[in-house]
Amino acid sequence: MKDSYGRNIDYLRISVTDRFNLRCLYCMPEDIDLSPMSDILTFEDLASVACAAAKLGISKIKITGGEPLVRRDVCHLIRMLKDTHGIDQVTLTTNGMLLGRFLTGLIDAGIDGINVSLDTLDRGRYGRITGHDGLETVLDGINKAAGSNIPVKINAVSVDWDRYFGTSKADDAPAIPEDVKALIGLAEDQPVDVRFIELMPIGYGKDFPGIPHDILIPQIKALYDGMTEADRRGNGPAVYYKIPGYKGRIGFISAIHGKFCNECNRIRLTSKGYLKSCLCYDTGVDIKSIVRQSDLGAVKQERLVRAFEQCILSKPDSHSFTQKEKITEKLTMSAIGG
Ligand code: GTP
Ligand code: 5AD
Repeated sequence: MKDSYGRNIDYLRISVTDRFNLRCLYCMPEDIDLSPMSDILTFEDLASVACAAAKLGISKIKITGGEPLVRRDVCHLIRMLKDTHGIDQVTLTTNGMLLGRFLTGLIDAGIDGINVSLDTLDRGRYGRITGHDGLETVLDGINKAAGSNIPVKINAVSVDWDRYFGTSKADDAPAIPEDVKALIGLAEDQPVDVRFIELMPIGYGKDFPGIPHDILIPQIKALYDGMTEADRRGNGPAVYYKIPGYKGRIGFISAIHGKFCNECNRIRLTSKGYLKSCLCYDTGVDIKSIVRQSDLGAVKQERLVRAFEQCILSKPDSHSFTQKEKITEKLTMSAIGG
């Protein structure tokens, strides 16, 4: 369905849980009071939601969390969504800790793509960023997934970790961090796309030193000879480049210095059933109250379709990440699902 600015909204991000098994500093660094399971949409709820969304032309679903692989039987949910009439693609964004364990189940369920969040290849730094000594486990999951014909992408948020951890001096000339170079190296021998995500001022991310992409992208281009723009991949906003001889591509999701709101194709559903129209604002529609009504299936479906319409029509024309006073979203990224 088209929103009021003529954009075709065909992509829904569903957060299936607010639980997580890492404590990433910029995302959700501390233990929180978890919502009771009764607050979280059930698989049956999500099946009705997907069915209603598909009726309005949503054909692609991204499963997120918290950490989606900690949701029990998530592979079963993926299969249910894949079997929904009108849904063509179901992909997943994970921190990768459980990827090796669930890969076969995900493939059997029909997953169409897997994105793994990974900010550094330095084991000690990975432990400091995520609160767990899990780098090898994540890399093992990535290697297995990359060897399985499923498109795999790495997501690295552009945080200036050297500055954050105090390992660079204030007067150091800006240079590409070693973390970035090492991550780009992952695309050399394996068919994985490595994407850098400009830090957004949402949740804990607000208080971190980001590396702006108007600085990072030219630095990377200058370092890798012959890097040229490549075709878009996936359903997201990333812009991709090829480096000669590399198997994977390098992508940039530059929400601030490459604002892509005019191409936005998506809405988001939190695990508690709040349908959000834009990452930046708290506006949206509570659909949990609809899915939990005791109405007959057809009545409920009709109400859900109307709720989706309302959310899509309320989508703003753009985010306001550079005008902090206009950001109304108070949820953390872990509650929204990125
Ligand atoms: P695919 O390339 O199809 O896998 O989709 P994707 O890149 O949208 O998926 P992913 O879940 O890996 O998202 C990567 C990053 O892009 C996350 O940090 C998201 O928050 C960010 N992102 C995704 N959609 C939007 C959006 O609509 N607006 C903004 N500002 N950021 C987004
Ligand atoms: N800005 C940009 N990306 C973020 N993510 C989490 N917090 C932020 C933020 N403030 C990323 C995660 C994950 C994706 C779903 O969102 O690293 O890859």
